[in-house]
Amino acid sequence: MSQLIPGGLFLLNYEVGYLKASRQGSGFTILGLGGYINRMTFQMPQFDPFFTWVNRGRILYAPGARSEIAFELGQMSADKPLIITDKGLVKAGVAQQVVAALEKSGVRPAGFFDSVVQDARIENINEATRLYNDSHADSLIAIGGGSVLDTAKAVNILLGKGLSDFKPLADQAALWEDAAPLAPHIAIPTTAGTGCEVTNVLVVLDDSSQSKLSVTHPYCNADLAILDPELTVMLPAKITAFTGMDALTHAIEGVTSSAAQPISDALGLHAIRIISQALPLAVQEPDNIEARGQMLIAATMAGMCFCNAMTGATHALAHALGALYSIPHGLANAIMLPFVMEFNATETPEKYSLISQALGVSSGEETDQFRAMACVNAIKKLKMDIGLTDTLKDFNLPTDPEQLSGLVELAAGDSQISYNPRSLEDADILSLIMKAF
Ligand SMILES: [Fe+2]
Repeated sequence: MSQLIPGGLFLLNYEVGYLKASRQGSGFTILGLGGYINRMTFQMPQFDPFFTWVNRGRILYAPGARSEIAFELGQMSADKPLIITDKGLVKAGVAQQVVAALEKSGVRPAGFFDSVVQDARIENINEATRLYNDSHADSLIAIGGGSVLDTAKAVNILLGKGLSDFKPLADQAALWEDAAPLAPHIAIPTTAGTGCEVTNVLVVLDDSSQSKLSVTHPYCNADLAILDPELTVMLPAKITAFTGMDALTHAIEGVTSSAAQPISDALGLHAIRIISQALPLAVQEPDNIEARGQMLIAATMAGMCFCNAMTGATHALAHALGALYSIPHGLANAIMLPFVMEFNATETPEKYSLISQALGVSSGEETDQFRAMACVNAIKKLKMDIGLTDTLKDFNLPTDPEQLSGLVELAAGDSQISYNPRSLEDADILSLIMKAF
């Protein structure tokens, strides 16, 4: 049995006994082996017929995978790593678990830098680079969340250029000219997460201008990302929720971005499926290794999605809210995401249809409007399930629109806003902010 649906609809129809594919106009029918499983229809998403895909580096996943670090370092001809982490992870004993695994295999770190604070800051980047040189390290191991992983990327870029100050580099959005492979670099995310372990972009907070700058470099992401869910069980529920919502926002904005393409869609949509189920479990059952592992994998997939497809207005607003009002990045995304999704819904109905199916809130048979609102409501419910009830009111932002002009200006100038599927005027940005009080 086959059925062709006109007008760009895609029909998958599995039947017993034979494989057949046929095409008529923009409609497809694919008949596959293996028994009648399911019938689903969806509109073929539109995408720019020119795109590139970047995905450098290996990923190693296993509960307890930290035991492989020394071997992996040896494979890179390195044995004197500089560890980059933060004091919170030292206090929680997480960084020591990695150092213990290294030392058990006979590798002693050349240096230990634990001064990373919230956000990758130029001062920290320069200081860690000095320590790398002074300790004669030959490689980098970053253990932490996005701020730590991004600091390590920046250190490696600085080392590669033989410079000591990142400030002039942070002023350039792209560092692709004369870029060459950098020092051996392993990233071990302890949140799930930023996806920073696989992205070739880093976000640097410039204290002098109070702005967050996105910088890309083709070799800055780790050569190896080690995903060990045992290192994430200490993560408090609140941070699990914040970082999980950051990963979900990467996936949703990656799928709806104007630069989205089929490969990033595949990763983003599956990340949405996993996160919508695993995040409440990871928040409610911190020791649930399976849920923690699923979240690590999904966050990495969302990272691969968005570093190719970019994000959108939620991230532009979150960067501005983080820079001016110190709202943690994942929480700022969680606050703004439903409002931006609602704003964008009319622009990308086919994407919201796919997202609604990934979230498990639509069979695909309903109207575009129903599916878009089902997505927004599902995100609101997920936020409630993981205990995120914050609004912008909780951060003492001025409610007078005049006093929000700096915030609007910063969001409007953020690089990510240009990838939002629906363009925004300053009045639209202000309106989104006002809805979030
Ligand atoms: Fe993010």
